[in-house]
Amino acid sequence: MDKKIKTEKELSDAELLKLEAQYCSWGDTVHYAKELNIFTHCDGSYLYDKNDTPFLDLQMWYSAATFGYNHPQLKKALDQQVATLPQLACQYLHKEKILLSVKIARDIERKFNAKGRVHFNVGGASAIEDAIKVVRNHTKKNPVFAFMGSYHGRTLGATSITSSFRYREKFGHFSDRANFVPYPYCFRCPLGKKKETCQFACLREFERLFESEYYSLVNTKTRNCEYGAFFVEPIQATGGYVIPPKDYFVELKKILDRYKILLVDDEIQMGFYRTGKLWAIENYGVTPDIMVFGKALTNGLNPISAIWAKEELISPEVFPPGMTHATFSSNPLGTAVGLEVMKLIEASDFETSVPRKGAYFVTRLQSLQKKYPQIGEVAGLGLALRIEICQKDGFTPNRELTDAIMNIGLAGKLTAGGKKHGLILDVGGYYKNVFTLAPSLYITEKEIDLAVELFEEALKKGIAQTT
Ligand SMILES: Cc1ncc(COP(=O)(O)O)c(C=O)c1O
Repeated sequence: MDKKIKTEKELSDAELLKLEAQYCSWGDTVHYAKELNIFTHCDGSYLYDKNDTPFLDLQMWYSAATFGYNHPQLKKALDQQVATLPQLACQYLHKEKILLSVKIARDIERKFNAKGRVHFNVGGASAIEDAIKVVRNHTKKNPVFAFMGSYHGRTLGATSITSSFRYREKFGHFSDRANFVPYPYCFRCPLGKKKETCQFACLREFERLFESEYYSLVNTKTRNCEYGAFFVEPIQATGGYVIPPKDYFVELKKILDRYKILLVDDEIQMGFYRTGKLWAIENYGVTPDIMVFGKALTNGLNPISAIWAKEELISPEVFPPGMTHATFSSNPLGTAVGLEVMKLIEASDFETSVPRKGAYFVTRLQSLQKKYPQIGEVAGLGLALRIEICQKDGFTPNRELTDAIMNIGLAGKLTAGGKKHGLILDVGGYYKNVFTLAPSLYITEKEIDLAVELFEEALKKGIAQTT
């Protein structure tokens, strides 16, 4: 007799996981967690499984769902677009695309006194590809700088400016691989200096390379540099939410300007008020030549990504039709939500609420740090927060404990107020020992208290498990 085929509804989580192991590629995501969760619904700061267990999400889809899950205003904009013009090839026009570009370009023009245009694609890495094309077209140079610890995505071009060799090693020789420069990661200074006294030693090292043509970068007679651009993250995201000192980028920009090296600012993870400013680079007082954004632009609903570039780099005369093209770029569902995100931002007080909530969160975590030497560093800019997990010396990276805490959070068996909870944490950092916290911008103080309570319970259990 034929085995009864179960309906989709009848499948248990265990059966689904078995099917996943057989039919889903594992190459398209990270598979860090010991046991994979299957979630069924989401709202605000929470993901839920089928038993309705709330998992407080402190990573919000790597900061894509920055404005919280199931946001009614954004959902409504999507629903309205579904009901009117949900599909349209990007060679034709629709109002939302134009208005979204206008809002972004005018905001940047006002803040940075620079005229420019917005150019759409689908995902973050694809937009990085477009930025690389704009750089090459303008400078006629392939080589670029990027930072050690950088992450710009996984397409081949984006991988070539992403520092981790592991991401490249299986895919042949990367002849255009970036020249990777140390990031100002002051807690673990690559030069072994102290932030208080270093006087930007890392930047001076970089600057020294332009002194002689024998250091390989520049013709000192003409100042013509072999490198066309420097791709930067205003806070290193996958690298562990590493926050540079305030004046770092101003000093870096002085060097770049001397040699006509373009500054490309990757805002894909840190844009849209994650750091308390619409654009994270606003925190540092420099004007980029190109900005790249995605993720929270649509709050993770029907993704689109984009670059903004200065007029002289992207006007139709120099960057004519067809220089890039993607079927789903500027798709109307994405632009409608993107436009609504910009309206939401205009009507909000994120500029004050995000730094306030971030400061409260950091203070709460710092009091935890006093109790647990395994918390080596707690820091934040707006609601981009980092917790670096170490051995008892407060410095040696402790990946084992980090993984244990993450898995305990995902198991969904923490308790608060007599109720079972889970905690969603993302792990990053050069040694995979940093919790990179990107909570919803609407997180409440009560939820921050709950986050700290759950984190402490997971930390205690993790310490017990690993010692
Ligand atoms: C800074 C940064 N750049 C680029 C990317 C790549 O974006 P996507 O995953 O949408 O391709 C990411 C993704 O995490 C990122 O954080």
